[in-house]
Amino acid sequence: MKTKTLLSLVLILAFTLSSCLKDNVDVSYSIYTDDEYETLSSILNLPNNKIDYLVKLPAHMSEIGMVSPSIDDAKATLGRVLFYDTKLSKNEAVSCASCHKQELAFSDDKALSEGFEGELTFRNSLALGSVPNFKSSYGGGSSLFGVNQQFFWDERAHSIRAQSVQTIQDDIEMGMDMSELVTRLSGVDYYDILFTKAYGNFNVTEQKITDALEEFINAMVSVNTRFDDAMDISQNGAEGNFALFNAEENLGKALFIQHCSACHGTNMSVSPRSVANNGLEIDYEDKGVGNITLNEEDEGKFKVPFLRNIALTAPYMHDGRFATLEEVVEHYNSGIKPHANLDDTLRDLLNPAYPKRLNLSDDEKDALIAFLHTLTDRELMADAKFADPFK
Ligand code: HEC
Ligand code: HEC
Repeated sequence: MKTKTLLSLVLILAFTLSSCLKDNVDVSYSIYTDDEYETLSSILNLPNNKIDYLVKLPAHMSEIGMVSPSIDDAKATLGRVLFYDTKLSKNEAVSCASCHKQELAFSDDKALSEGFEGELTFRNSLALGSVPNFKSSYGGGSSLFGVNQQFFWDERAHSIRAQSVQTIQDDIEMGMDMSELVTRLSGVDYYDILFTKAYGNFNVTEQKITDALEEFINAMVSVNTRFDDAMDISQNGAEGNFALFNAEENLGKALFIQHCSACHGTNMSVSPRSVANNGLEIDYEDKGVGNITLNEEDEGKFKVPFLRNIALTAPYMHDGRFATLEEVVEHYNSGIKPHANLDDTLRDLLNPAYPKRLNLSDDEKDALIAFLHTLTDRELMADAKFADPFK
C-alpha cells in the first residue's frame, strides 16, 4: 500500500516535472533571457520570440530557378538595429534609415539626400527592398544567371558589405571611420547581447557589422505585388493580358514590354541589362560608370534600376531630376537626347543618329503609369520586422 502511494506520488511528481520541463521548452523559444530582455527593452522594441526573416518567393520566380535568400534571423535582427542606429554616423545625426525610409520602399523623397552634416549626397538615394538585393546573397557579388550583382548608380560596389563600408566612411553620408565605429559599438549593452546572439560572442568587428547589415538588406525582398499575383496565375509569363489587371493596366504592360523591357525586363525579377545610357543629357556632369572605368564608352551609363515599388520612390533618376512618373514617361516619349553612348534600343530605327520618339497618346502614357503602379508591394512598407526598433 505504502509503496503504491509512493509510486503514484513519484508518478505524479514525474508527470508534473515533465510538464514543467515542457513549459521550459516552450519558454526557451524566447530568444533572450529575462535580464537580456530587460536591457534590450529599455532602448529597443524587439519581440522576445522568433522573428522569421524567411522570404517566400512567388511561384513565377521559383519557376525560373530563383531561390529565396537564406537569412539568419539573429544576424538580420542585429542588422536591423544597426540600420536604424544613428551611432553609425560620426555625429550621431543620421542612420541608414534617414535616407532609406521603410514607408518609401527604403528610398527617400529628396532629389539628393542630406548627410550627417547636412551636406547633400551626389546622387539620388536608391530604393532597397527590391529583388536585386537578394541576388547578392549568392556571395561576393556573383549571383544568379551569371549576372554579377553590383551596387550604387555607377555599380562601383560589388557586394552590400563593400557598399556599407563606403557609405559609412563617406565624407558626406556618415563620415565615420570603420575602426572608430567598432570602438563605439563595443561595450554598448544592447550590442553585447545582439552580437552574441548573432555571432556567438560580443566582439564587434568591421566584418560582423557589414555582414549583419547585408543580412538585413537581403531579407528585404519585395514580392507581394499585384503584378506577382497576376504572374503566378498567368499561362504565358508576362505576355498576354493578365486576368487580374484592368484594360488600362494590360495596355500599360504591353507598352512596357514593347518599349521598356529591353533594359528593365519583363518579370520584374531579373534585369536583362546591368547599366545603360537612357539619354538624359548630351553631356553628363556626373559620368556614372565612366567615372569608375575612365572609359569613354561608359560615360553617361548608369545602373538600370529595378522598378518594383517605383510609385513610392520619387524623385527619379540618378540625380532625382524627375519629380513624377509622368515626367519620366514624357522623357522616354519625347525627351531622349542623342548622347554618344545612347543605347541602341532608344535610337530611331531608321535614323540611329536620332533618338527614338514614341509618340504615345495621353491614354497610353496613363496606361504605362497605371502598369507601374501594379509593382507596389503591399506588405514590405508596413512589415514590423523591417521597422525602426528604437523606442
Ligand atoms: C545620407 C544618405 C544615405 C545614408 C545615411 C545611407 N545611404 Fe545608402 N544610398 C544613398 C544614396 C544617395 C545612394 C546612391 C549612391 C550612389 O549610387 O552613388 C545609396 C545607395 C545604397 C545602396 C545601393 C542600392 C543599389 O541598388 O545599388 C545600398 C544597398 C545602400 N545604400 C544601403 C545603405 C546602408 C546599409 C546604409 C547604412 C550603413 C546606408 N545606405 C546609408 C544614401 C544614403
Ligand atoms: C536602354 C535601356 C532603358 C530603356 C529601354 C528604358 N529604361 Fe528606364 N532606365 C534606364 C536607366 C539606365 C535608368 C537610370 C538612368 C539614370 O538615372 O541616369 C532608368 C531609369 C528609369 C526610371 C527611374 C528609376 C528610379 O529609381 O529613379 C524609371 C521609372 C524608368 N526608367 C522607366 C522606364 C520606362 C517606363 C521605360 C519605357 C518607356 C524605360 N524606362 C525604358 C534604362 C532604360
